[in-house]
Amino acid sequence: MKATIIFLLLAQVSWAGPFQQRGLFDFMLEDEASGIGPDDRVWALMCPFRCQCHLRVVQCSDLGLEKVPMDLPPDTTLLDLQNNKITEIKDGDFKNLKNLHTLILVNNKINKISPGAFTPLVKLERLYLSKNHLKELPEKMPKTLQELRAHENEISKVRKSVFNGLNHMIVIELGTNPLKSSGIENGAFQGMKRLSYIRIADTNINTIPQGLPSSLTELHLDGNKITKVDAASLKGMNNLAKLGLSFNSISTVDNATLANIPHLRELHLDNNKLIRVPGGLAEHKFIQVVSLHNNNISEVGENDFCPRRYNTKRASYSGVSLFSNPLRYWDIPPTTFRCVYVSSAIQLGNYK
Ligand SMILES: *[C@@H]1O[C@H](CO)[C@@H](O)[C@H](O)[C@H]1NC(C)=O
Ligand SMILES: *[C@@H]1O[C@H](CO)[C@@H](O)[C@H](O)[C@H]1NC(C)=O
Repeated sequence: MKATIIFLLLAQVSWAGPFQQRGLFDFMLEDEASGIGPDDRVWALMCPFRCQCHLRVVQCSDLGLEKVPMDLPPDTTLLDLQNNKITEIKDGDFKNLKNLHTLILVNNKINKISPGAFTPLVKLERLYLSKNHLKELPEKMPKTLQELRAHENEISKVRKSVFNGLNHMIVIELGTNPLKSSGIENGAFQGMKRLSYIRIADTNINTIPQGLPSSLTELHLDGNKITKVDAASLKGMNNLAKLGLSFNSISTVDNATLANIPHLRELHLDNNKLIRVPGGLAEHKFIQVVSLHNNNISEVGENDFCPRRYNTKRASYSGVSLFSNPLRYWDIPPTTFRCVYVSSAIQLGNYK
């Protein structure tokens, strides 16, 4: 028992500074009396200088580090290196980290990742690379990856080969990059059969990416330069529930668009250049939220939102915004919102 207490004190010292006394430590290991297994003790004492290590989590954020610390404890499951000054990720930086599931490299100065750097990470699920200087996504990411976040980089190209074989991917975040539509290879995301969420907001793309997987439930493309919603790019997307296209330059939405996304619940088209309400809303069964404010819609027809026949079953709208359009709202036929049962769901507002 006494040995255990001394050990814990020593462990504290080693977290605060470089002090390590392996000989004494080995001796301590022979004491099995405490609840902490010998593996945990070895692990804690392998903590890199100035980092904090606890329960297989290695925390090295905000330390001004210019490179990945050497000799990271094997069996680390989460490694946090955010808010440092790391410029390069080299082969071997993560060797031995075969149990790592989360790697956080957010807010560094990374402009280069060696092709083999992530190879040892055979269990990696989450890779956070946002706020760096990457020009391209790394090749050879672990096949186990589920979530990739790389917003606020300098990425101008997304190659199909980057996502080859990443069959477990669920979330991709690529917002705020100097991406153009021509920089995204056709079908780049297509192979990922479990992909549920893509966000490519605040870039320079001017079309909806082609060949999106039908597993997507959320597609966020706000703040781009998209001018048209073409139905073909959304064909077969039976799982899509949220589509974000706010703050683009969209003036037309193909009539077949909504028919191609039959389970959509939210459609965000505010802050665009629409001159009419998109077609197909009345026939759609599930759509509940439609934001159309800040457009150039000057007319709303009686059958734009609600089915012609009362007995057609559809989910009720919970939010429709039409304010800041050149609409004389007193001219909207009173029956236009006959399928809306909560009057607060409709925001018309005054046009100034
Ligand atoms: C789309 O639908 C609207 C309203 O029903 C119709 O006026 C228009 O001609 C249609 N456009 C095309 C290209 O079919
Ligand atoms: C709004 O639409 C009208 C046609 O309905 C067009 O003449 C006008 O230029 C549009 N305004 C803007 C700001 O796009």
